[in-house]
Amino acid sequence: MKLLKILAAVALTISISSAQDVMQKSMNIMEEGMSEIQKGFLNNSVELIKSGTEKVRKGNELFSDKKVITQYLPDNKKHMVNIAANAAERIKLDANVLELNLENKAYIDAANAYSDMMNACARCHSIVRSW
Ligand code: HEC
Repeated sequence: MKLLKILAAVALTISISSAQDVMQKSMNIMEEGMSEIQKGFLNNSVELIKSGTEKVRKGNELFSDKKVITQYLPDNKKHMVNIAANAAERIKLDANVLELNLENKAYIDAANAYSDMMNACARCHSIVRSW
C-alpha cells in the first residue's frame, strides 16, 4: 500500500513535470517564431517571415488543447479556459491569414496578421498573469 502511494506520487510528479515541458517548449518555439517574423518584416525577408510563421504554428499546436491549457491556469482563472483557448485558435487563424497575404504580396495585411498574433499572446498571458 505504501509502495503504491509512492509509485502514484512519482507518476504524478513525472506527469506534472512533463506537462511543464510542453508549456515551456510551446512558448519557446512561439517566442522564437515571433522574433523571426518580426525580423523578416523589418529586413524585408519573406523567407524569415515564412519560417517564423511555421514555428509559431508548431508551438501553438502544442498548447491549444483545453485540457492542457487548464493545467496552467491559476485556480481562480480556470473558468476562463474558453477565452484562453480562443486566443490559441486566433493564433492558428492568424498564421493562415498571414501566409495567404504573403502569397498575394499584401505585406501590410500580413503585418497586421502578425500584430493580431501578438495581441492573442497577450490575451492569454493577461489571464495567466492577472495583467
Ligand atoms: C492559451 C494561452 C497562451 C497563449 C495563447 C500564449 N501563451 Fe505564452 N504562456 C502561457 C502560459 C500559461 C505561460 C506560463 C506562465 C507565465 O509565464 O506567466 C506562458 C509563458 C510564456 C513565456 C515565458 C516562458 C517561460 O518559460 O517562462 C513566453 C516567452 C511566451 N509565453 C510566449 C508566447 C508567445 C510568443 C505567444 C504567442 C505567439 C504565447 N506565448 C501565447 C500561455 C499562453
